[in-house]
Amino acid sequence: MDYKNIIFKHEAGISYVTINRPDVLNALNADTLTELDDCFTDLEKCQDTKVVIITGAGGKSFVAGADIKELHDDTVITGHARALRGQAVYSKIENLSKPVIAAVNGFALGGGCEMSMACDIRLASEKAKFGQPEVNLGIIPGYGGTQRLARLVGPGMAKKLIFTGDIIRADEALRIGLVDAVYPPEELMNEAVSLAKKIISKGPIAVRLAKKAINLGMDTDLKSGLEHEAVLFSAICATEDKNEGTGAFLEKREAKFSGK
Ligand code: COA
Repeated sequence: MDYKNIIFKHEAGISYVTINRPDVLNALNADTLTELDDCFTDLEKCQDTKVVIITGAGGKSFVAGADIKELHDDTVITGHARALRGQAVYSKIENLSKPVIAAVNGFALGGGCEMSMACDIRLASEKAKFGQPEVNLGIIPGYGGTQRLARLVGPGMAKKLIFTGDIIRADEALRIGLVDAVYPPEELMNEAVSLAKKIISKGPIAVRLAKKAINLGMDTDLKSGLEHEAVLFSAICATEDKNEGTGAFLEKREAKFSGK
């Protein structure tokens, strides 16, 4: 995979996607969104990819939002198209059949905060800063911020952050449930890799279906979510991994999952 605005690396089951426009704090322009879209299409097909880690290049920023130079020229028509485009790419990240970890190394603002929220798990550096500062620009979040932030931290806190444009530190993001763990900057990537490796050691179909069940459940009522869970639980009972995992426990040995 050859890109201009992202760096792609693959090693030992983990695919690393680094947004790489450090001169503009990794702001997302249209070309970068296209590359991300293509990258996640390929990652879905890639049998070797078990977990994806997304981060930002340059040490200062994860993603500082949509590219404000492009936003400045938006009209009613192009603004609508831009929001739909960003939302579609982030939904592709959210619905990837493999876990996606955001390693938030710096500013995660606007589209950056929204990108992290489309990931399954958010790990942050102590230096990371989060916010939806769109109101400072006279606009609203357009890549899912009004929806995913409210689901993650509750409508009151989401409104507080979005109405004020406040930028919060990683410890506050942890307190309100916007991130799942915070580490010293130099440990962030090692922690993300350890987490990825731990997930990779589990039954891959189980992880995939668990992600599907949780995502489906977040979009529906409890009764429907429980029904989906039961159907997926039934499907997992047909796998060799289920026989291996339960058998290994009963035989007091370590399970060796084949992903079948
Ligand atoms: N779009 C386009 N360019 C951006 C950008 C964005 N979202 N965020 C940062 N940049 C550019 C700056 O214009 C600057 O470019 P320049 O060197 O050509 O002037 C460069 O990145 C460095 O940013 P700078 O503002 O000088 O860094 P800082 O450390 O003083 O401030 C931020 C960092 C993140 C607080 C500040 O850049 C900022 O507020 N960015 C916009 C965040 C935002 O509103 N995001 C939501 C967009 S919808």
